[in-house]
Amino acid sequence: MTNAPLKIAVAGLGTVGAGVLKLLAQQAEVIEQRCGRRIEVVAVSARSRGKDRGVDLSAVEWYDDPVKLAAHPGVDVVVELIGGSEGAAKQTVETALELGRHVVTANKALLAHHGTELALKAEGKGLAVAFEAAVAGGIPIIKGLREGLAGNRIAEVHGILNGTCNYILTEMRTTGREFADVLAEAQKLGYAEADPSFDIDGVDAAHKLAVLTSVAFGTPVDFQNVYVEGIRHVSALDFDYADALGYRIKLLGIARRTATGIEQRVHPCMVPKAAPIAAVDGVFNAVVAQGDFVDRVLFVGRGAGAGPTASAVVADLIDVARGRSTPTFGVPAASLAKAQPSPMEARQGAYYVRLMVVDRPGVIADIAAAMRDQNVSMEQFLQRGRSPGEAVPVVLTTHDTNEAAMQRALATIGKKEAVVEPPRMIRIEQF
Ligand code: NAP
Ligand code: HSE
Repeated sequence: MTNAPLKIAVAGLGTVGAGVLKLLAQQAEVIEQRCGRRIEVVAVSARSRGKDRGVDLSAVEWYDDPVKLAAHPGVDVVVELIGGSEGAAKQTVETALELGRHVVTANKALLAHHGTELALKAEGKGLAVAFEAAVAGGIPIIKGLREGLAGNRIAEVHGILNGTCNYILTEMRTTGREFADVLAEAQKLGYAEADPSFDIDGVDAAHKLAVLTSVAFGTPVDFQNVYVEGIRHVSALDFDYADALGYRIKLLGIARRTATGIEQRVHPCMVPKAAPIAAVDGVFNAVVAQGDFVDRVLFVGRGAGAGPTASAVVADLIDVARGRSTPTFGVPAASLAKAQPSPMEARQGAYYVRLMVVDRPGVIADIAAAMRDQNVSMEQFLQRGRSPGEAVPVVLTTHDTNEAAMQRALATIGKKEAVVEPPRMIRIEQF
């Protein structure tokens, strides 16, 4: 193996890009020991040349255009840290692969939309597209699944995949702070996406889940079939009721092999307080994998921010420097086997429902009748306090039932004159 420096070009110098340059500078010695060669940044690109990024750029070439940077004749690896599924990021990665450079990226949006085709292109040329940083920040979940658990058939992966949402849910529950205020703080801390609606509407977690599913099950990346719901409708009342019922609220991504196909879904969940994942708070992410020989494995760590994400990017660079290569999604891209997606309507499980209803006799009986008509069995019914003639919150939980039946019952309940707000439902997951 060569001991010439690995020459890299970095496209994007925001939270993650600047973090990578800092880590490479600070840990140069230990990285050289581990790879037997140096990792040398030869060129960088971002939009604004004058911006102070807290890193020394005096010895590197500057490119305004990341696609031209990707065509730099002297680089071995292009590190794409711009973001977005199309545009500059995609063109940068495609150019790098066409010209025979390895790619390291943290861009889950790009992988969710184009992962399979990029893997095919890269593997056809003997190149790497490495993306440890794209899923769950600093947690080595891609290596964990693709290498550490390579001897297992995976039945399920689930987890907290978005640091911004977990931070918001934790702060709202523990401090009673407002959603918008906590989101602004997550943005300031460098956790959120350039467009934070990707975080709070569950899209970022869905991008990551689509990538995880591919690695776990050896299937092409299938983002189109991920069911997605975000956290906008989770209210302070839901945190109180969840606590009283023995649950925590988490935005989870769940991918599972079921009798009806592969299920991929992202939505707020109530999980028992005793489940290990319930205790994972703040910007921390957690992923649980269920393998047939290893049983359950839980990975926990910081899911966003400069340091943890840079740690994952540099791990990929070290692999390239060492000459290690693994098929992008764990099996060669040409052998990824399409699988039947399982529809959301097939989900089986319990539900929490919160209603605002006019407090008068007969309303609860009407709600119970709508549930009965869909064969949904109720477990608990809570109405705290009384305000005759006024709207009051009413909460119920169900026994395990079917999603399609539950949706039909909620549609009927939502049309009742005494129900003054759309019903809010959170799925209960018993891990
Ligand atoms: P960011 O802070 O917004 O940085 C984006 C960088 O890309 C900026 O330096 C920006 O330049 C540059 N850029 C944007 N458009 C460009 C263009 N057309 N040409 C050249 N440069 C361009 O984003 P980030 O948080 O570092 O995220 C980068 C990637 O990592 C994204 O794919 C994100 O999803 C992923 N990621 C982020 C985290 C995290 O915690 N932040 C964690 C895991 C993965 P200027 O600085 O000049 O504006
Ligand atoms: N916006 C993402 C999050 C960054 O909050 O998890 C890490 O991928």
